[in-house]
Amino acid sequence: MPELVDRPAHDTNRYRDDTAFLRRPRLSDAGHMWRIAKGTGVLDVNSSYAYLLWCRDFRETSIVAEIDSEIIGFATGFVRPEAPDTLFIWQVAVDERARGRGIGVAMLDRVLGQATSFGVRFLETTVTGDNAASQSMFTTLADRRGAGIYARPLFTPDHFPDGHTAEDLYTIGPIHENGHR
Ligand SMILES: CC(C)(COP(=O)(O)OP(=O)(O)OC[C@H]1O[C@@H](n2cnc3c(N)ncnc32)[C@H](O)[C@@H]1OP(=O)(O)O)[C@@H](O)C(=O)NCCC(=O)NCCS
Repeated sequence: MPELVDRPAHDTNRYRDDTAFLRRPRLSDAGHMWRIAKGTGVLDVNSSYAYLLWCRDFRETSIVAEIDSEIIGFATGFVRPEAPDTLFIWQVAVDERARGRGIGVAMLDRVLGQATSFGVRFLETTVTGDNAASQSMFTTLADRRGAGIYARPLFTPDHFPDGHTAEDLYTIGPIHENGHR
């Protein structure tokens, strides 16, 4: 199983083990993904059913991170039917205790790397203007891949029925297979 060795933990609220294992999700991970999404306090929490569906039907374009056999992060994505060279990342989350150790960007890098084998050359995601962590994470990913990163408005508040803030579309690419800086 592939592994990622991260920076050392700095305080007791963090996991002692520094090794995160990255793998495709299975059905039994869906509840953990739902709980992590809920725990962020910032992500839209989708139904528990949605995470189950993702673990069944979009596992090739999704990933979970484990520490000590516990799911501590995930990223969900799909290849856009209208743009088969584009991986859309829907949600990324890392448990608070494991943040700042490169796990978020490592999950994205892995899932993107896997997707290049079936023709993906671009990554898209949406980010709200106030999410500095997310903006940094996607910028780091683009740097790591030696790719450009572009942002433009996509979903404005008028599109949402519930007062949701605007979501800007970030595009990263072109991505080259196994291409890292
Ligand atoms: C966004 C999130 C997934 C990042 O996970 P993470 O594992 O802590 O991120 P990483 O350690 O891989 O950091 C990647 C880069 O982002 C930067 N970063 C991480 N958190 C940051 C923060 N709060 N503010 C500014 N930059 C931050 C890191 O310094 C790193 O940049 P560097 O390579 O230049 O050092 C995590 O903060 C999270 O779960 N947030 C809540 C959910 C969310 O907002 N998801 C994204 C929208 S879908």
